[in-house]
Amino acid sequence: MNKEYFPLGIAKGNAFCNRVAERQRLVKNIKAHQHTLITSPRRYGKTSLVLFVLEKLGIPHAKVDLFVALNAKACEEQLIQGVQRLLGKISTKPERMLTQIRDYFSQAKKRWTIGFKGLHLELTPEKDSDAAINIMDALLALESILAKKRQRAVLFIDEFQEIGALPSAKALEGAIRHVAQETRYLLLVFSGSNRHLLTYMFDDKSRPLYMLCERIILDRIDEAHYADFINKIALKTWKRHFPDETLSQIFTLTERHPYYMNVLCNALWKTHEDKAHPPDAQSVKKIWQEYIYTERTRISRELSYLSFGQRKILTAIAFGNATELTGKHFLQLVGLTGPSVINALEVLENRDLVGRKEAGNYFIIDPLMKAALLFFYQDSFKSSEEN
Ligand SMILES: Nc1ncnc2c1ncn2[C@@H]1O[C@H](COP(=O)(O)OP(=O)(O)OP(=O)(O)O)[C@@H](O)[C@H]1O
Ligand SMILES: [Mg+2]
Repeated sequence: MNKEYFPLGIAKGNAFCNRVAERQRLVKNIKAHQHTLITSPRRYGKTSLVLFVLEKLGIPHAKVDLFVALNAKACEEQLIQGVQRLLGKISTKPERMLTQIRDYFSQAKKRWTIGFKGLHLELTPEKDSDAAINIMDALLALESILAKKRQRAVLFIDEFQEIGALPSAKALEGAIRHVAQETRYLLLVFSGSNRHLLTYMFDDKSRPLYMLCERIILDRIDEAHYADFINKIALKTWKRHFPDETLSQIFTLTERHPYYMNVLCNALWKTHEDKAHPPDAQSVKKIWQEYIYTERTRISRELSYLSFGQRKILTAIAFGNATELTGKHFLQLVGLTGPSVINALEVLENRDLVGRKEAGNYFIIDPLMKAALLFFYQDSFKSSEEN
């Protein structure tokens, strides 16, 4: 039961909680042929949201994950495979499609090899040809097939920021912009978690993708929605709701970070499923502490990549110092100069370790990291209010 409702991977079907407003926006964009970029810190639910919407809409789609693409050729390969998968989904007569794609490439005077690999079409560009041009050609070939069939489709390019970090980023981004401006049937949905890089790619006037997409920024899911969602599952398991204290303990510890909500609920169900009563707040706390303990090595390893100053500032933020971090009081507290604090904060933000709320207050994005910092460095800092 727990794995089904609280997966640690993509949330599908009954495991998907709320996101009503974001879903509506994405559906509206898809219907209006508006390319869209979805951003959030890691593990907030970008991939789950896009796949959930695409599956509900029943529109043919394929997902390309650029996380593993370490160079332009690898991006090209991933994108061409995405095109092949999408072609596979829209074709009822593969033989006919093969001819159409061959015609498309020969009219465009491109020497690609088009054939079957098993049941699937395989598109192979000329050896040593340019990755950006090949990406453009493959996507435009897909568009031409979609146009012939008057069939709309979505290519979901996940972890798109990886392209922005490559030496040939501008050429690749240029190719994608060209495609995005040309297509009437193929819609592009991008998502990624490195907001710094994505902002640079999409909001900088000198970059090809400037102003191309509507942006959806994912935040955490509201308490009320999570409470309804969890209580429905609790009713199925124990024939009763969770006590309010249990729910608020879960929300306090995980800070409603979607991944950690699932980690914690998953463990709660695993340990209590067979009992007569749902867990109480104390059990929640115990399980969370055990989890911190088992994850402590991973957290220390992550912290070891930071400089002494960065770690100190991160810890100070974990202890509740959220504003005026270049003020005299904070500089004294951490024993650093103003410019070093500014530098360190930039690194911590770019690495997605700290975020900023609307009012500008800093916070630790990962609640487990925060809990571990408070545990590792007990009594090191007190929040500015307490001092
Ligand atoms: N709407 C949702 N309802 C319930 N759980 C969700 C929801 N969205 C995401 N989750 C859970 O949150 C975690 C992260 O989801 P997902 O992988 O979709 O996020 P992501 O932002 O794409 O992550 P990454 O940055 O690692 O690519 C998973 O455990 C998933 O099951
Ligand atoms: Mg993802």
